[in-house]
Formats: sequence, structure tokens, C-alpha cells
Amino acid sequence: MSKALTYLAKTRPEAATHLLGFYKHSVQALDDKTRHLIQIVTKVTVGTERGLRQYAPKALKAGASREEILDAVLMAFPAAGLNKVLDAIDIMREMDLLPDPPDAAPAVNADKRLGALEEFPLQRMHCLQRPEANLIVFRTTADSATVYSARCPHSKANLCRGTDHGTTVECRVHNWTFDLATGHCVEPQGGAGLEIIPSVVRDGQLFLA
Ligand code: FES
Repeated sequence: MSKALTYLAKTRPEAATHLLGFYKHSVQALDDKTRHLIQIVTKVTVGTERGLRQYAPKALKAGASREEILDAVLMAFPAAGLNKVLDAIDIMREMDLLPDPPDAAPAVNADKRLGALEEFPLQRMHCLQRPEANLIVFRTTADSATVYSARCPHSKANLCRGTDHGTTVECRVHNWTFDLATGHCVEPQGGAGLEIIPSVVRDGQLFLA
């Protein structure tokens, strides 16, 4: 009980008894977790930091997850408005009652940048000479690409010197042919496929992963 209610119970016992009796007996069907989550909504709406600090830990203790507590804070938005919700989030984060944000996307090394995605022709083979290896970039759709090692899996010839048939490339040494959308060997059937080099697209740029 807050100090103010304790004070009222002593100095205005009749009034305080009715008030406390209301709190005690009015809610009967809700379990503790639900009740405390609703109390979070009301505390955020009213903008009472003390109430929030009092009831939010109770919700956690009653079995609410941090995600549910965040939902309760956000439920107050239509009545409370943005500023009260943001203030509540500050308080709850300080009390470690809200979920951590997901990890930010890992930074990509600028040295691994292969180029702007739109620079690579759609559905066509594009060769890149890199210090680590020769690569083939095949832009499968407007916003995705697959990167392959240009080394022929048959006997390591450079496929960038092979014959470009559009969506397939044919090795000039023994004529193995590879589908560039999948990397599979189409001639001879069952031959080893191209090695896929992990890559990632960020902000329209293609990087080695
Ligand atoms: S090295 Fe490419 S087909 Fe043999």
C-alpha cells in the first residue's frame, strides 16, 4: 500500500476502508497477471511513474513476459498519447522490464562490397576478379543475386573464360554446362554444381557475407 493510502487509512479510516474495500473486492474474475497488465495500461494512461514502478514488477512476478508488458504499455497509446508511452518505456527499460531490441544487423566490411545490385545485369552472367577468387554474380531478381566461385568444379578451369549462354555457362575445357540460377550442372547430368559463395544485399549493395 502506498504511504498516502496508509496515511488516509489512519486519518480518514471510514473513507479509506470503502476505498480499499473497492480495490479488494471489485476484481474477482481476472487472474493476477491479467490484472497487473491492465494496471500497467491504466498507470501509463494516467501518467503515474510511481504506479508504474509499483505494478509493472508485479506483472512480471505474476508470470507476464517482457513482451506482454511492452504490449500493455503500447495498449495505453490511444488514451495516453505518444509522450506518456515513451516516458513509460524509459522507466520500464530502466527497470529492465522490457525485452531487448533484436540485434542490429551485423556491420558489413566495405572491403567485401561487390557493387550496387543494379549494376549487375538481370539473369545474365557477370564476372568479377577479386583478390581472393574469380567470382560469377548472377542477379536472379531485381533485388537478389547469387554469387558463385568461377572455378569449374570439374577441373578448376576459369568459367569466366567459358561460353556465356545467358542463363547457363559452358566451360571451354570439357564443356560442362551450369545453370546460373541454381548452380546445378546441366551437362553432364549429375556433375558437381557450382560453389555458392555466401553473400548479402544491404541497402541495394551486394557484399560477400
Ligand atoms: S574443367 Fe571445366 S569442364 Fe573440365
